[in-house]
Amino acid sequence: MHTRSSSINGESIEPAFIDNGVPVFKPTMDQFQDFYKFNQLINKYGLESGIVRVIPPKEWVDSISSCYTKENLSKVNIKNPIVQQINRTGHGVFQQQNVERARKYNLEQWKELSRHYEPPKKRKRSHDEMMSNDTEYTVERCEELERAYWKSLTYSEPIYGADTEGSLFTNDINCWNVAKLPNILDLMEEQIPGVNNAYLYAGVWKATFAWHLEDQDLYSINYLHFGAPKQWYSIPQSQSEEFFNLMKDLFTDEYKNCSQFLRHKTFLVSPQYLKKKGITVNHTIHRQGEFIITYPYGYHAGFNYDYNLAESVNFAIPSWFDVADSTENCHCIPDAVNINVEQLRKKYKDYSNKVDLF
Ligand code: NI
Repeated sequence: MHTRSSSINGESIEPAFIDNGVPVFKPTMDQFQDFYKFNQLINKYGLESGIVRVIPPKEWVDSISSCYTKENLSKVNIKNPIVQQINRTGHGVFQQQNVERARKYNLEQWKELSRHYEPPKKRKRSHDEMMSNDTEYTVERCEELERAYWKSLTYSEPIYGADTEGSLFTNDINCWNVAKLPNILDLMEEQIPGVNNAYLYAGVWKATFAWHLEDQDLYSINYLHFGAPKQWYSIPQSQSEEFFNLMKDLFTDEYKNCSQFLRHKTFLVSPQYLKKKGITVNHTIHRQGEFIITYPYGYHAGFNYDYNLAESVNFAIPSWFDVADSTENCHCIPDAVNINVEQLRKKYKDYSNKVDLF
């Protein structure tokens, strides 16, 4: 088994730098080429930090510009976005209620809608700041908005075009095409939207994803096609139990009702609160043209800085099989995802003896 090591045939890939606890990779086209292998090579870093950021080679970003034709963009159909009602239940502690808005939007309409949710104007102190534009997401500007986010979370209800089936990648893209990533979930007999079929996510300012792990504790990948950045938070694996115990104490009734209550994706706790409780929160700004990968045991959460469009899917590499056995599912949501792990493991073993699978 080579699943636990970070080297295959003596090859290894190291992060270019660490951004607030999050390893950031800047692979060459040669390293980037093979998604399945790349992910095995960087696995140990991601498992440790919960998430990683991948800045693809410019060559690749250029190669997918062909996906953003008027025709392709016009196919995006955001159905029943969710209005996010967020209530404060304590200092830095919030609970979210999702209410579907029975309407559909094309991208143009979504962009127009996002104008009603715009982030606060920049505080301009110096001449340089007077000259700069509000749509430039410098680290300082993002920090200002991040403070505004946690302060004003309950003041207005953001809307999120989450879980929209579809992909912006055209079928001719064969490298890191989120809609067809070579991985173990290809062996599944059924197609589950968002799990082994790509989902699009249309954001506005403050559109939120609450603390969660992936269904069946899978990996996930998120590509930001265009628009404003996403703020991400993650808990290092070494503190995932402490984090869960803290959440359990904060939301006792919900835990009693469902031991897998975080799978409901409705519980928010600020990084400041977590730090006060001794929990490390890694964080990074995810910009357009970049990937975030999330890992088993890596609790993550975040929000969008303004209008944007992202694409996401789950995936698995061999080391996931160790994780999958101890996953518990939520049984109180009727359509909760349940993957047949035994069937997958058997197929994987059958195939991997014969051929180089992916
Ligand atoms: Ni996620």
